[in-house]
Amino acid sequence: MLIGIPSESKQSALVAATAKTATQLTDLGYDVLVESGAGALAGQPDSAFADAGLRIGTTEQVWAADVVVKVDAPTDEEIGRLRQGATIISIMAPARSPDLLKKLQAQGVTALAMDAVPRISRAQAMDVLSSMANVAGYRAVVEAAHEFGRMFTGQVTAAGKIPPARVFVVGAGVAGLAAIGAASAMGAVVRAFDVRSEVAEQVESMGAHFVELGRSAFEAEASSDGYAKEMTEEQQAATAALYDAEACAADIVITTALIPGRPAPSLLTAETVARMRNGSVIVDMAAAAGGNVAGTVADQRVVTDNGVTILGYTDLAGRLAPQTSQMYGTNIVNLFKLLTPGRDGNLTLNFDDVVQRGITVVREGEPTWPPPAVRVSAAPAAAPTAAASGGGKAAFPTGAKIGLVLSGVVLLWLVNATAPDPIPRHFTTLMLSIVIGYYVVGKVAHALHTPLMAVTNAISGVVVVGALIQVASTNTTIRILSAAATLLASINIFGGFAVTRRMLGMFTKGA
Ligand code: NAI
Repeated sequence: MLIGIPSESKQSALVAATAKTATQLTDLGYDVLVESGAGALAGQPDSAFADAGLRIGTTEQVWAADVVVKVDAPTDEEIGRLRQGATIISIMAPARSPDLLKKLQAQGVTALAMDAVPRISRAQAMDVLSSMANVAGYRAVVEAAHEFGRMFTGQVTAAGKIPPARVFVVGAGVAGLAAIGAASAMGAVVRAFDVRSEVAEQVESMGAHFVELGRSAFEAEASSDGYAKEMTEEQQAATAALYDAEACAADIVITTALIPGRPAPSLLTAETVARMRNGSVIVDMAAAAGGNVAGTVADQRVVTDNGVTILGYTDLAGRLAPQTSQMYGTNIVNLFKLLTPGRDGNLTLNFDDVVQRGITVVREGEPTWPPPAVRVSAAPAAAPTAAASGGGKAAFPTGAKIGLVLSGVVLLWLVNATAPDPIPRHFTTLMLSIVIGYYVVGKVAHALHTPLMAVTNAISGVVVVGALIQVASTNTTIRILSAAATLLASINIFGGFAVTRRMLGMFTKGA
């Protein structure tokens, strides 16, 4: 099949494939045709595609392809260029674009919306909204730093003491967490708030302080699809005071609050903005959906009477076009891997797969939006039941436990009374080890079980010592067994330490 990569018709610097990702598509068996100049603003000139052995074509040739892949939703004119039976893949905002879906149906095409990828772990590699929000969150901090008149990091210099910038991030989704990470890395003191209390740990792991506000007030509204629910009036009143206090104490406010399919929630009132310090900067990332801040104008830089700068840029990801295009292109390659099980350049849609079903908004001219709901992994886990929370205690009923202990005691007595020396001594040691091991390991938190297992591989050291003692035996069979035991146990020991080292490395800064 031929994949066409056209230029983006709107004011976008992005492109749906880079030379690298287009080559990965050819590795899946497809032919790729890139429109001349499509990647010029994303650091991907025609020569980059040509050097990678890819074909460059005209607008007409690209739109006549079997599959057309772009970033923004197709315009009416572009839809008219698609041939019947073709497949178009792009961001489509299907919930907000009924007209677009009707036009795609009328054209008799299949349409896959990249922004409808369900938020499940398996689909993360295709989640373009996350890729874009990640870049945009970073860029929001860069834009804020550009407007802000001071450094982010605090310093004590000969010329005086510089306090660190205070950043307040509202909404700790992908964009918010990226903003927190960037602002923390630049040395700012970062505070953040989200109505989904389950993200508090993530906020803290990114180096920010999670602002607490009667978390329980939101627990009933826990998300089931990885997104927040709309707030009740009571919750709105509870958060209004928090936003006011935090915004007035902050130098930079970055708002990212979003409820899918609805206008952006209004969080910072005109009164709050009017009370903020002169020189403060607000980046309202939700500007495209109406904004979280009173006074935001989409795509504009507004300076209020009291000297607060409000940035409502909606193209933050596009301001890092080479980076965003690379990430978008990689998301597209991951989607094609899913859609091309035979690696033969033939796109096949499997509606039993929730990801493929979720993104298909039109199939051969037939409407398939909305898809059935998918419960996602980002949803908080159900509260542990009494049985499950017993840390293993409830796994064994008390009667069974008493029975086990009694049998152990009887067995120990029998062995000690009947077996010749040294079996009773070894057997007693073994039984004690089992009891101590059971209680020690049972108390280790679940999250630490893997490193624990890796470290306990060192127990194989005991096997090595035993095998080394036996290796000098005159019996050949014993010698062979000892050598094999030494080899296998050594693999276990060194492998265990290597795995532990790798895992600990993940938690070490700069590793
Ligand atoms: P997300 O859904 O991952 O995160 C949004 C977060 O806001 C969620 O954690 C949600 O719980 C939280 N939230 C909702 N209502 C809230 C409230 N009243 N108070 C506090 N938190 C609240 O979304 P993502 O991907 O992080 O995107 C965030 C925003 O950034 C969206 O509005 C998106 O459209 C926008 N965006 C803007 C770009 C730009 O160029 N300006 C580029 C990419 C994304």
